[in-house]
Amino acid sequence: MYIVTGGGTGIGRAVALSLQSRGEDVLVAGRRRAPLDDVAGDTGGAVRTVRCDLSTPDGARTLAAAVDTDVDGLVHCAGGNPAIGGPEASTLEAEADLVRETLDSNVTSAALAVSALSGHLTAGASIVLFGSIAAEHGVGYYGPAKAAVASYALGLAASLGPRGVRVNCISPGYIAETEFFAGTMTPEREAELRAGTTLGRTGVPDDVVGLTEFLLSSRAQHITGQNLHLDGGAHPTR
Ligand SMILES: NC(=O)c1ccc[n+]([C@@H]2O[C@H](COP(=O)([O-])OP(=O)(O)OC[C@H]3O[C@@H](n4cnc5c(N)ncnc54)[C@H](OP(=O)(O)O)[C@@H]3O)[C@@H](O)[C@H]2O)c1
Repeated sequence: MYIVTGGGTGIGRAVALSLQSRGEDVLVAGRRRAPLDDVAGDTGGAVRTVRCDLSTPDGARTLAAAVDTDVDGLVHCAGGNPAIGGPEASTLEAEADLVRETLDSNVTSAALAVSALSGHLTAGASIVLFGSIAAEHGVGYYGPAKAAVASYALGLAASLGPRGVRVNCISPGYIAETEFFAGTMTPEREAELRAGTTLGRTGVPDDVVGLTEFLLSSRAQHITGQNLHLDGGAHPTR
């Protein structure tokens, strides 16, 4: 089976629907009921869902408790930038909360999901984590958190490699049609981001599906510990 965290919306939703359309057993995790019900409804109930906050140990236990068979792949899309749409932190306490919330959303959630599912992972299983081009640009605490996710993927690949488990990180540039920007994206900013790509196009969740499914597949059996940018050339890496 495949687990897609954050699979109620955006990139995760596109990945979950694609895997299910190929006949895979898919479990989608997220905190809100409504997006989970939507993705389940769109597949006639074929995609199973579990409500959990993966930034907490209890949430990770809830995810693991919903898993009743071996896990062939974990796609960890849960994450985000809590600073978007929120007020500026005006006290040290608020600043500390924002740092912790950003790290919890992206780094703690990845660590807890992986640890909770570790015993279920088959030899040959593949884990795909999500970083961001923001790691290359800074971007408040979100960029640092995504840099940490990419580094975590590298270390995890080394520790799980002997079990035959591969771990890679996909770091997208701007991807439209997600809830990531919480309604704050403007046409002007979108045009700027599009102009920053070498392809002159805006990415959409389906652009991420192909690479994710490739990394999950045995065709990628010799690829692990990588951080792969998927951004229309906005940040060429070599
Ligand atoms: N869109 C972009 O431009 C972009 C660019 C680079 C990287 N990314 C990364 O790509 C990944 C997917 O994001 P997206 O673009 O598809 O945005 P999205 O639509 O906001 O998806 C994020 C999903 O994660 C879930 N989630 C967040 N925190 C969670 C938690 N603690 N426990 C469980 N579920 C949680 C959210 O659902 P609930 O709120 O219901 O839990 C939501 O469904 C994220 O890691 C994001 O940082 C996105």
